[in-house]
Amino acid sequence: MKAITKTFPVFAAAAFCAWLLSGPGGLRAQSDNPVVLHIDAAKATAHVSPKLYGLMTEEINFSYDGGLYAELVRNRSFKDDPKDPVHWQLVQPAGATGSIALDPGQPFNDAIATSLKLTATEGTVGVANEGYWGIPVRPNTRYHASFYAKSAPGFTGPLTVAITSNDGATVEATAQVARLTGEWKKYEATLTTKDAKPSSENRLVISTARPGTVWLNLASLFPPTFANRPNGNRSDIMQLLADMHPAFLRFPGGNYLEGNTIATRFDWKKTLGDVAQRPGHMDDAWRYWSSDGMGLLEFLEWCEDLHMEPLLAVYAGYSLRGERVAPGDTLTPYVNEALEEIEYVTGDAKTTWGARRVKDGHPKPFPLTYLEVGNEDNFDRRDGGTYDGRFAQFFDAIKAKYPRLQVIATTKVTSRTPDLLDEHYYRNSEDEMASHAHDYDARPRGAGPKVMVGEWATRVGRPTPNMSGALGDAAWMTGMERNSDLVILSSYAPLFVNVNPGGMQWPTDLIGFNAMSSYGSPGYWAQQLFSAHHGDTILPTTDQNIPTKEWQPPAGRRGADGQAPPPRPAQQVQTLFYSATRDSKTGTLYLKIVNRASTPQPVRVEIGGLASVESKGQSIAMSAGSPDDTNTVTEPNKIALKTASVDGLGANFTRTFPPYSITVLEMKGK
Ligand code: AHR
Repeated sequence: MKAITKTFPVFAAAAFCAWLLSGPGGLRAQSDNPVVLHIDAAKATAHVSPKLYGLMTEEINFSYDGGLYAELVRNRSFKDDPKDPVHWQLVQPAGATGSIALDPGQPFNDAIATSLKLTATEGTVGVANEGYWGIPVRPNTRYHASFYAKSAPGFTGPLTVAITSNDGATVEATAQVARLTGEWKKYEATLTTKDAKPSSENRLVISTARPGTVWLNLASLFPPTFANRPNGNRSDIMQLLADMHPAFLRFPGGNYLEGNTIATRFDWKKTLGDVAQRPGHMDDAWRYWSSDGMGLLEFLEWCEDLHMEPLLAVYAGYSLRGERVAPGDTLTPYVNEALEEIEYVTGDAKTTWGARRVKDGHPKPFPLTYLEVGNEDNFDRRDGGTYDGRFAQFFDAIKAKYPRLQVIATTKVTSRTPDLLDEHYYRNSEDEMASHAHDYDARPRGAGPKVMVGEWATRVGRPTPNMSGALGDAAWMTGMERNSDLVILSSYAPLFVNVNPGGMQWPTDLIGFNAMSSYGSPGYWAQQLFSAHHGDTILPTTDQNIPTKEWQPPAGRRGADGQAPPPRPAQQVQTLFYSATRDSKTGTLYLKIVNRASTPQPVRVEIGGLASVESKGQSIAMSAGSPDDTNTVTEPNKIALKTASVDGLGANFTRTFPPYSITVLEMKGK
């Protein structure tokens, strides 16, 4: 145990003592021999895909409404519930009387067929919106409030729009709008807080002190947004994403793309233009109303803001409850829709849909390299399934018009050779994920499709992965990185979760947030570590003495007879994983070591093929005292990356990696 690291001296020594006292438990006894890694830095097995690390996103777990999309008003167009103005309340202090109700007799426009009627009979009466689990208030902050209103004869206002505490006792910011008429008109105001205490215990109130009736619609409140985009995104969450250096964004799903039925798919044309004209739709895949404020253009601008390439998934004629469109003439309108969507993204102003994008405010076409046809079409199995035929029809039409687009299939097809195949891996334990980290090592390379691992996660930790989840993820990522000549794109899923009760439909999710703050899970930090620290060349590496532990693979599926399958035999799974890459321009070597064990792990590193490797380098690492350790919205940085200068590296060195740790060593070699 020569080289206790300088990065973790106290922690590693303490953990080692604890291990001596407790014994190695379920681990195979750690040999006195260290793990030996021999890296041939003069050779390359392949190139690291420059787009290996990306993001996947869809409207799930309140990812956009109540999440990234910065709108603070919930149910702004009163469609969340057809019967009640949910998330809105009548504000009627003692002595005042009034009422609120949905009024389908006063439609707002073709897209929004109802409105909210507020009747003030006596005193100051208003409506309050509770936001998405509160409206966040910060001091000295400008909020942009807007709403549409029209009034009954005899009432011209004024209306007061204010951010107040939930009990109404504190008015954090207020403004007035006047001259209401019998016609719908948009009213806007800037609400500026002063020395407000940061809190989400607030609401937006629109009120009047005069008797009368007014109808309201599309009430909206935006805090400052990332890059000051109107209708934009939350800055804190965008910054977390920016720090991951993602190469692409796979959107809009996932199940959200498909919908439970064709009618509830992501119908991109209905998500364009003025938000007041967007109907929104029921996200029945995840069981809540989507405002579609995050529409196609907003997805693309999100990519632009973070310098990622859009990876567009187009609806391919299959929805989750089994509705499907047969290949042939009935599918043609959907194929055409996809071609139009590509034109909206990439076309210039001379094209129909390019011109529409210009009209929507974005003259410059967006780059597009990858296009996915559908999502998880392996579920379309009835009567042999229709995906082979559907894919062929999409593929031919897309390649005919856009030959350079790389077309991704969501499951195996024989009718055409897709450029990529999208594979999804959700694993329910760290050991299970780790047991698959070598899956791609033996996958034959050839003329067949490359791989996008478009969804993957170690589902350990709620709502976000704990350190155990992160260790499983990191083990898996070493496998993708080592094989990134084949696996050229990857994205974890789901990306986001609103951590409030009722906010999560699917555990485990990478980034958590509530109204006030957001945090990266240990899994987030592991991804940031991998994504920001790799070379462009995969180095051939051999190993000795890799430690393993016993684990119990989950039972298989029940048979057709309903009988539980026999338990599967216990297996050995590695507790140490690694990946070695080098930057061909700078010469920097990146050695990633994942130590999943509860004990410190010495590793002897032998680097061949170089004249010299500097003894000084850098370690970027994360570790935990227990695999259950995690980050939360109240303790966001319990586990985070620590960067330290390290000495004692070189062409041949031994270094000890702490228990439950993920480390990148950056070394200079010539
Ligand atoms: O990530 C959650 C869901 O898992 C996705 O929507 C779907 O593609 C997959 O089944």
